[in-house]
Amino acid sequence: MKRVDDFRLRFGKKELVPIVIGGMGVDISTAELALEVARLGGIGHISDAMVQTVSDRRFDTKFVSEKLKKYKTNAASSDKSNVHFNLAVLEEATRYHVGRTMDAKRGDGMIFINCMEKLTMNAPRETLRMRLSAALDAGIDGITLSAGLHLGSFALIEDHPRFRDAKLGIIVSSPRALAMFLRKNARLNRLPDFIVVEGPLAGGHLGFGLDWAKYDLATIMGEVLAYLKSEHLDIPVIAAGGIFTGSDAAAFLEQGAAAVQVATRFTVTQECGLPDKVKQEYFKASEEDIEVNTISPTGYPMRMLKGSPGIGSSIRPNCEAYGYLLDANSRCAYIDSYNREVELHPGAKKVKVMDKTCLCTHMRNFDIWTCGQTTWRLKDTTRKLPDGSYQVLSAEQVFHDYQFSVDQKIALPD
Ligand SMILES: Cc1cc2nc3c(=O)[nH]c(=O)nc-3n(C[C@H](O)[C@H](O)[C@H](O)COP(=O)(O)O)c2cc1C
Repeated sequence: MKRVDDFRLRFGKKELVPIVIGGMGVDISTAELALEVARLGGIGHISDAMVQTVSDRRFDTKFVSEKLKKYKTNAASSDKSNVHFNLAVLEEATRYHVGRTMDAKRGDGMIFINCMEKLTMNAPRETLRMRLSAALDAGIDGITLSAGLHLGSFALIEDHPRFRDAKLGIIVSSPRALAMFLRKNARLNRLPDFIVVEGPLAGGHLGFGLDWAKYDLATIMGEVLAYLKSEHLDIPVIAAGGIFTGSDAAAFLEQGAAAVQVATRFTVTQECGLPDKVKQEYFKASEEDIEVNTISPTGYPMRMLKGSPGIGSSIRPNCEAYGYLLDANSRCAYIDSYNREVELHPGAKKVKVMDKTCLCTHMRNFDIWTCGQTTWRLKDTTRKLPDGSYQVLSAEQVFHDYQFSVDQKIALPD
């Protein structure tokens, strides 16, 4: 039986270990995690979700408080149309985050950035164009376009000098979405360099409805590979979602995947950005503790632990400080839900909002514990310590376990 290390992901002359660690916002897939994966010869992702917040936390910039200061007087209003991102600041924050990461890169692997289209930031085109071009300017090896269809994203950067040299890829969950993307971008004469096919067991937002359980990754992979063959297109396809062991990964590589993208197993590594207490929640979780719900204001179903403190929280929308989910009409579904509850409970000091969450605030504070469906198996990947807690792993240990293990075995840490 083959193992992952018997395969290589090829980009032109470059050969990589075919393991990609998926982007996990907000700063769950940290620069440290991406750097470690690049050192080990794979592909690591940072994420540009809430990049101004990430920059403040890491580089002591004051982008969030400056934005809040500017718009503070608007906080009580539900009209957010005047709350804008300063594009120069967005560029600076992206350059800090990406530039410092790329300066620290060692080894033969690569570092990509995950860009979610659904972060519409009250000016979808302008802010996305700035995020993408600033990341390219700062030397990122590649960009993975996710959470949204991204039909027009390539065109936003077609004049960038690195448009044809950086690796650009998309995440899709069906051959239909892929066909739409390729059709829409045909005039640019620039195919994606890779396609991530994300199945229904992934963490974060899903490209499926609440009927996600009816789908499975191997079937969708087969459909996508057949579609590309029928179109005579040779693009590396990367399988993602629920790939828990090296043997699971090897099976996809044997099916024709060029690599696998994994994330959940890295949420309990030292390099992951989740606070230690939250990593223990992931270890402790049972299958019943995991749900796919519709509380994300993006409109996409999202998988998370039911015990996430951000579920049913009642905070006032924080768009003056954040505002990443404000759409082209300055709306966010959480604002509507919050206002509805306030109107229904006149005079109440606090209201409870159950159907939506202020995702910016809660992802920033690590209070929405998004996770993959296999999270309940994490406890089997480590040892229990005398105090009852679980031993946090190193990214190297998990990476090598994927790379070398066979027979569904998982190597425990020393
Ligand atoms: C905690 C967590 C956060 C995630 N956040 C994002 C994200 O911000 N953007 C994105 O495109 N995918 C996100 N994902 C999806 C992963 O990048 C990846 O494709 C998927 O989870 C792989 O499946 P696995 O977790 O079963 O290994 C997230 C996954 C997890 C577990």
